[in-house]
Amino acid sequence: MDIKSDITNWVFTIGASQNKSIVDLHLLTLVISFIIASIVTFLLVAILFKFRTGTSDEALPAQVRGNVILEIVWTAIPLLIVTVLGVQTAMVMLEVNPPPARNRHPDVIVNAHQWWWEYRYPGSGVVTANELVLPAGKNLLLEIRSADVVHSFWVIAFGQKMDAIPGHPNTMWIKPTKPGTYLGKCAEFCGNQHSLMRIIAKVVPPEQFDSWLEKQKAPEGAVGSAASQRGKKLFMAATCVECHRVAATEALAEIGPDLTHIAQRTTLGAGVIPNNTENLTRWIMNPQEFKPGVNMPDMRLTYDEARDIATYLESLQ
Ligand code: CUA
Repeated sequence: MDIKSDITNWVFTIGASQNKSIVDLHLLTLVISFIIASIVTFLLVAILFKFRTGTSDEALPAQVRGNVILEIVWTAIPLLIVTVLGVQTAMVMLEVNPPPARNRHPDVIVNAHQWWWEYRYPGSGVVTANELVLPAGKNLLLEIRSADVVHSFWVIAFGQKMDAIPGHPNTMWIKPTKPGTYLGKCAEFCGNQHSLMRIIAKVVPPEQFDSWLEKQKAPEGAVGSAASQRGKKLFMAATCVECHRVAATEALAEIGPDLTHIAQRTTLGAGVIPNNTENLTRWIMNPQEFKPGVNMPDMRLTYDEARDIATYLESLQ
């Protein structure tokens, strides 16, 4: 998937009902601002022409001091505008992100890492990375956490940003309206690969979400070809297992992204390169080439070794 050409996202894209309210308020503010700007521009230009000084006209214009009616008018109108926008803003804030009830558990736990995203679906044991899958039409509670520094979770079409703060989980409501793929990114500077901390949010119909979740629960252990079997052996023997988890194997670490179903993802390195065996081989050989500063070291594997590991990982559907 070419994530650049495939998705058009901007602030007016509605991907969640919360963003509908935000966009409506945004448009109201734009319309009011446009009317004010038009009146001011018109008056400014009109006055410039009407009261131009003639070359022989050296006398001062009539000096006026104080006008109670004008004072009241130009205090009342801005006060009214600010009040209307203030009340509207408060209403949108209350509607968009009400505090969750005490016993309401999150539907997804978003855990930000330098520089990738971990998604946990509580209750199911499912853990994925970088590509967030959500069912359409349900009001979902996301809990936003951080494993290291301050990040910010922002899917543009969902409207809101939420800071991911170490030791202080935040919550955010999202009711995805329409199936589709929505792009987002980390919106808080978090180190040298901040700009390559992308989010791909996939909203699918509820039935499709349920079957996706079921499939995620099932560990994919099918190791086919000889290359894939050599790759699995290498993966389990090398330092890969110090950081990564592949469910139902001896790889249990949770420092790096969970790789149980890595072959399903469209990109590698949180949106850096398309996910295929050749790219994964090059990533395993030297991830710094694609994402300088990334916490995954160069394992000093030969091309053939890296290729075998990539072949194994790409069999994890
Ligand atoms: Cu994470 Cu910026």
